[in-house]
Amino acid sequence: MSRQTLVEAATNPPQSDSLASSPFDANSFDEAVMSTYARFPLALERGAGCRVWDTDGREYLDFVAGIATCTLGHAHPAMVEAVTRQIQKLHHVSNLYYIREQGELAKWLIQHSCADRVFFCNSGAEANEAAIKLARKYAHTVLEIERPIILTANASFHGRTLATITATGQPKYQKYFDPLVPGFHYVPYNDIGAVEAAISELDEGDYRVAAILLEPLQGEGGVRPGDRAYFQKLRQICDETGVLLIFDEVQVGMGRSGKLWGYENLGVEPDIFTSAKGLGGGIPIGAMMSKKFCDVFQPGEHASTFGGNPFACGVALSVCQTLETENILQNVQQRGEQLREGLRAIASKHPHLIADVRGWGLINGLELQADIQLTAADIVKVAIAEGVLLVPAGPKVLRFVPPLIVTEAEVNTALQAVEKALATLAV
Ligand SMILES: Cc1ncc(COP(=O)(O)O)c(C=O)c1O
Repeated sequence: MSRQTLVEAATNPPQSDSLASSPFDANSFDEAVMSTYARFPLALERGAGCRVWDTDGREYLDFVAGIATCTLGHAHPAMVEAVTRQIQKLHHVSNLYYIREQGELAKWLIQHSCADRVFFCNSGAEANEAAIKLARKYAHTVLEIERPIILTANASFHGRTLATITATGQPKYQKYFDPLVPGFHYVPYNDIGAVEAAISELDEGDYRVAAILLEPLQGEGGVRPGDRAYFQKLRQICDETGVLLIFDEVQVGMGRSGKLWGYENLGVEPDIFTSAKGLGGGIPIGAMMSKKFCDVFQPGEHASTFGGNPFACGVALSVCQTLETENILQNVQQRGEQLREGLRAIASKHPHLIADVRGWGLINGLELQADIQLTAADIVKVAIAEGVLLVPAGPKVLRFVPPLIVTEAEVNTALQAVEKALATLAV
C-alpha cells in the first residue's frame, strides 16, 4: 500500500466504522465513564497532520497533541505503516521471550542519549515508578541507606499512581488519597540553597537523601524551564555525594524542547531518566533509562505485562526514526522561535493581561497577570470556538504543545486565534 493510500484510509474511515455512522451522545458517555476529567464539549473523531475533526465534522488546529504526545501529529504515514505492519506480524508476546522490536528501540534510545540500559512500561507514571524503585534499590544496596529520601520540587508533576502523586509537589493532586508513600521531601524548583539545606538536614539516623527527581522543564506546573546554573550545580552535588540525579522527561523529552532530551538544554546528564508521551507518538509506551552503574535490578524485581511489547516498540521505533529522517528537531527549533516571537508581540500589545512568555522548542507558555480575573481556561474556550485547540498548564498559563511537524502557516493560525481570543476577552 502506498503512503498516500495509507493516509487516505486513516483519514477517511471506511463505512464499516460503525461508531462514526451513529451520532455521538455526550450524556450516555457521562453516565458510563467515571468523571475524572472536566471535558470540553466536543468529541474528536479523526485527524490528519495537525488537524482534527469532531463528530459534527468541524475542523480544529490541534495545538494540544494529546498533551504533548502526538509527536508526528495524526495519521502520519510512518505511524500508519508501522501500526499496520506490527499488528499483521506480531503485536504482543510476554517478556518471558526476547522481543526484537524492544531491543532495537532500546538500542536507538541508548545511541541517542546518555543512557546505557532501558526498561519499558506503558505510561509516564509507570516510568517514574520504575525510576523510584530503581533509586530505592540502589540506595539500599549501594549507598547503604536504610530509609532513603527522594527530593522532588514544588509545582512538579510526576503522575497519578500513589508513589507519583506523592512525588508530585502539588497538594491538590494528593488530597483525599492519604496515607501517601513515605520517603519524599519537597524543595522549591531552581533553588540550589534549598537542595543543599535538605541534603544536610535530612541526614539523620537511618534517613538520608538518595535521589533528586526533577523535570528539566516543569510542564504541568506552568511551563517553567530549569535554570542552567542550578542544574549544573545539582550535578556537581550529586557527583560529590553519590545522590542519584533523576530527570522526568515525560513531557519535555523526545524532541519537544528542540533537542531530543530536555536535559540537553541544561548542559547536564542525569543518572536515570524517564520518557513516555511523545515516545510512541500516541501509542501507549513508557521507558525508564539509566546509566549502567545504577542498573541494579535483578530478574523478577520489576516487570510489566504490556511493557515493551512488539506493537508499542515497533511503532515507537518508527516515531524515533522519523524524527531523524525528517529532520524534525530543526522544525521544532524554527517553529518554536516563530511561536515565541509571535506570543511576545501579542504580549507587548496586552501588558495588562500577559505577564510572561517562556518555553523551549514546541513547549511554550503564555502566563497571564496574577491580579486579573481572566484564566487560561477562558482563553481555551474562545480559541476552541475559533477552531484552535489549546490547553492550560495551571490556572494562569496557556500552554502550546502542537505536533512537532507543525508548519509556519499553522503557527500563524494559532497566533491569530490567541490574539482574537484576547481581544474578545479584554472587552
Ligand atoms: C512530567 C510528567 N511526568 C509524568 C506524567 C505522567 O504521565 P502519564 O499520564 O503517561 O502517566 C506527566 C503527564 O502529564 C508529565 O507531564
